[in-house]
Amino acid sequence: MEGKRTIFSGIQPSGELTLGSYLGAIKNWVELSEEYNCYYCIVDMHAITVRQNPAELRKRTLEQLAQYIACGLDPKKNTIFIQSHVSAHAELAWILNCYTMYGELSRMTQFKDKSSRNAENINAGLFTYPALMAADILLYQSDLVPVGDDQKQHVELTRDIAQRFNSVYGEVFKMPEPFIPKVGARIMSLTSPENKMSKSDKDPGGCIYLMQKPEDIMRSFKRAVTDSDRKVKYDPVSKPGVSNLMTIYSVAANKSYDEIEAEFEGKGYGDFKPAVGEAVVELLRPIREEAERLLKDKNYLVSVYKEGAERASRAATRTLRKVCKKVGFVDR
Ligand code: TRP
Repeated sequence: MEGKRTIFSGIQPSGELTLGSYLGAIKNWVELSEEYNCYYCIVDMHAITVRQNPAELRKRTLEQLAQYIACGLDPKKNTIFIQSHVSAHAELAWILNCYTMYGELSRMTQFKDKSSRNAENINAGLFTYPALMAADILLYQSDLVPVGDDQKQHVELTRDIAQRFNSVYGEVFKMPEPFIPKVGARIMSLTSPENKMSKSDKDPGGCIYLMQKPEDIMRSFKRAVTDSDRKVKYDPVSKPGVSNLMTIYSVAANKSYDEIEAEFEGKGYGDFKPAVGEAVVELLRPIREEAERLLKDKNYLVSVYKEGAERASRAATRTLRKVCKKVGFVDR
């Protein structure tokens, strides 16, 4: 671990992981495992900013852990843990709340979106969500934070908070950088390709889930929105649906856009869409099977999250102690 740069990222267990979570995030996390000291978190404390069913949250948290591992994240090489198990996150989040401005939080696009979608529950946690996210990142002195572009604003706010704190107390926090992967960064909905494929999508056909059955995956791809031009050609502006399917096919089958265009030259979407579906079925099959196997081995999953929390806690406590001292709390 010495000398390696540090990465932190997390996904909320607020819904089932999707093909977008895998291609846009977890697949890249796996590739970063060798070169970096990586912390991959299941951010259950962020998830409760929106009302959750407790039994389902618990179940999805364990499923997400099994899926992280099934996607190839090795718990020996990465610190995989559940956010609520490391109390330093809540503690630092409180402190950082006192260094985060009302105006800054009000400008966050995600807050504006989520509060308009959950008008009946605009709670303080939803508002200060970015301060908890800043705590996640800063506790581990992270260098890089792999996120989708929708989270870039939160990482930038994290930098502003770190900067503000450091300018008062000295170099306490390392300045993190957002790290936005080029390929697969934006897997779009199959039914509304102008929107990101999201686990909170209300349209079930737009989203492919990691644990979905092959026949359901095939059905969604056959119904995917395309256009009336009948040409398999990459052009995200005028052909968003087809281009999204090409991105998915390109990552799932490991082919370039040129190769895909040549493969479907003179053929229509009736050949193209099931081919993408099959590539995705084959990509997800081993992940689903491994996750199902792991979910039956509860003791193993418990040992992974306990060990993860211990490792994370050790690193997090180091930063938290420094911060407590700086702000003037008496030593414990
Ligand atoms: N807010 C992120 C999302 O919804 C999840 C998240 C929480 C996160 N803490 C983080 C991502 C820290 C990166 C780093 O996608």
